[in-house]
Amino acid sequence: MKRKLNSKDISQLIGNAPVRVGLVLGSGLGGILPLKEVSEFDYEELADFDETSVTGHQGKLMIGSINETKVAILSGRTHYYENGKSDTMREPIEFLTKLGISHLFLTNAAGSLKQNIPTGSLMVIKDHINFSGLNPLIGEKSEERFVNLTKAYNNGMIEAIFTAAKENNLKISQGVYAWFSGPSFETPAEIKALNMLGADAVGMSTVPETILANFFGLKVAAISIITNMAAGLSEEKISHDQTKHIAKSCEKKLQKLLISLLRNFK
Ligand code: HPA
Repeated sequence: MKRKLNSKDISQLIGNAPVRVGLVLGSGLGGILPLKEVSEFDYEELADFDETSVTGHQGKLMIGSINETKVAILSGRTHYYENGKSDTMREPIEFLTKLGISHLFLTNAAGSLKQNIPTGSLMVIKDHINFSGLNPLIGEKSEERFVNLTKAYNNGMIEAIFTAAKENNLKISQGVYAWFSGPSFETPAEIKALNMLGADAVGMSTVPETILANFFGLKVAAISIITNMAAGLSEEKISHDQTKHIAKSCEKKLQKLLISLLRNFK
């Protein structure tokens, strides 16, 4: 069997310019960025990567340049609900860290709890509620496991997202994201409870990735694509197909935003 590639192998393959920024692309968003000089690696080729099993996830590491910024993209992520491991993204994020990134942008699909954050809009995550009771650092032995999450989402990066949105005339809101494990969607009663707790959106990813990225010393920001109103808040039927469909229809918006955003990371 062919030996799997580690971060040193990849660094050698992609040449000298440092990779500054990482990006995790969620549901159905693979390949939305026009990268130059791109190198692509299937997750199966990489040491320690889990296979992604959800339809709509490509499972590729893509490294390339966008406006002079070298970016490493995880196109397709694994979720806790796929394998019962809350640290399922630990190795991919560690891999990016070893490639040299300092900043990580996360994206996800989420349900909105607020009428003023409608389906088809984008929301910057300003803070999160870990409603799952899980933590990807359980079992970690080092003292670094006591990660301070007071500023889990980096203010400078949040500002850069708003600047990029302004440049593109995109409306973007800001809110608190709550993590439910999935894969079932929430009940209306759970959404009511989350609303009382101060959540603005709900989803099945990002929180463990944010915890891990902070653990690895990365600066983090996250953007939600609002694919539906959360359970009980509208007549629309919530489904994975709907999530993929709306995420796809927001690709252009997100693409514009990310291109402007990454320009600021020369
Ligand atoms: N709940 C949880 N995860 C989601 C949702 C939702 O309503 N929409 C997209 N991902």
